[in-house]
Amino acid sequence: MSEPTNESQIEQRDAAIGKLAARLGVRAERGRRFAELTSLRVGGSIDWVISPETEAQAAGVVHALGEAGIGWRALGSGSNVLADDCEHHYVVLSLKDLKGEVHFDGQLVQVSAGYSLPRLCVDVARQGLSGIEGLGGIPGTVGGALWMNAGAYEHEIGKVTETVRVARGGQVVEIRGSTVQWNYRHASFAEGELLLGAVLRLQPDDPEKILARMEEAKSRRMATQPHGGRSAGCFFKNPPESSVGTGKIIDEMGMKGARRGTAVVSPVHANFIVTEGENARAEDALALAEEIRERVKREQGIELEYEVELWRSNGPPKRDPDVPE
Ligand code: EPU
Repeated sequence: MSEPTNESQIEQRDAAIGKLAARLGVRAERGRRFAELTSLRVGGSIDWVISPETEAQAAGVVHALGEAGIGWRALGSGSNVLADDCEHHYVVLSLKDLKGEVHFDGQLVQVSAGYSLPRLCVDVARQGLSGIEGLGGIPGTVGGALWMNAGAYEHEIGKVTETVRVARGGQVVEIRGSTVQWNYRHASFAEGELLLGAVLRLQPDDPEKILARMEEAKSRRMATQPHGGRSAGCFFKNPPESSVGTGKIIDEMGMKGARRGTAVVSPVHANFIVTEGENARAEDALALAEEIRERVKREQGIELEYEVELWRSNGPPKRDPDVPE
């Protein structure tokens, strides 16, 4: 029943979702749109948004969805997602309410997936722990940062991740960070893996010095990247084969300020696409991104890879890896 196609299948699925949400005590809502849930402020309607508040609940929800054959995708603060404008007939598992509390144990810091990354950076800096201050101004959740191995200013979350908690078979399971391959803006988690939280191992240092380095990173970011929220960060990865970054390549092609409808190449940093207006459209952002890719391919022979996640309404949603098809 991954994608219900007729009325009775939809009714059956909706009844199953209602039941499992009541059984597990989680909030399940209808009528939300990606335009409200992502930083680009674009994207179509979502059949259901389920918002667990604890790691155990989240593990239970994805297992129950898997058993019922209902597809889902996990969303943090939506700051690295471009969802298309159509109707998305799967469950969005929102991790925003899965904040929990940060626990400190010497150099170890335990945090849940929905916790705000910028807030965590401040918390650990005040505690005199160094290793993620470069990530200070990155808007997003800890779960999103782990999923894509977020990095900036010489820091990368994967480098300091001791363990990650994931959902398997309805349970919270801890895996060692060293078993994950932490690559440039990509971690080797399998599709269908739900990240619930992590323990980071940081290094002691003077809180004042850490906060100063964080402020320095933030002011570099403020000076070189657009702010105000209506972007998804860098749209493309930097190409491994080029010593020049994607932003500079697009800038040198004269594309800063280029527009497709409600989407614009940021005049501040050319690897950012920003959207405008109440009725901004994913279609515009995607058309602009594709225009950039084609020009870079034609003029530089470089195949740009998306850094932003593209969520297609007809794409494959996730399944619990432990639940058979
Ligand atoms: N530049 C231009 N024009 C532009 C943008 C950049 O000439 O429009 C030049 C800059 O002047 C600089 C060079 O390109 O000389 C590099 O720019 P920047 O320092 O902004 O770094 P970047 O490679 O564009 C990367 C990450 C950012 C991260 C910064 C700082 C990627 C795709 N981007 O940007 O990450 O914040 O370094 O560490 O890896 C993100 O992941 O979403 C992101 C924004």
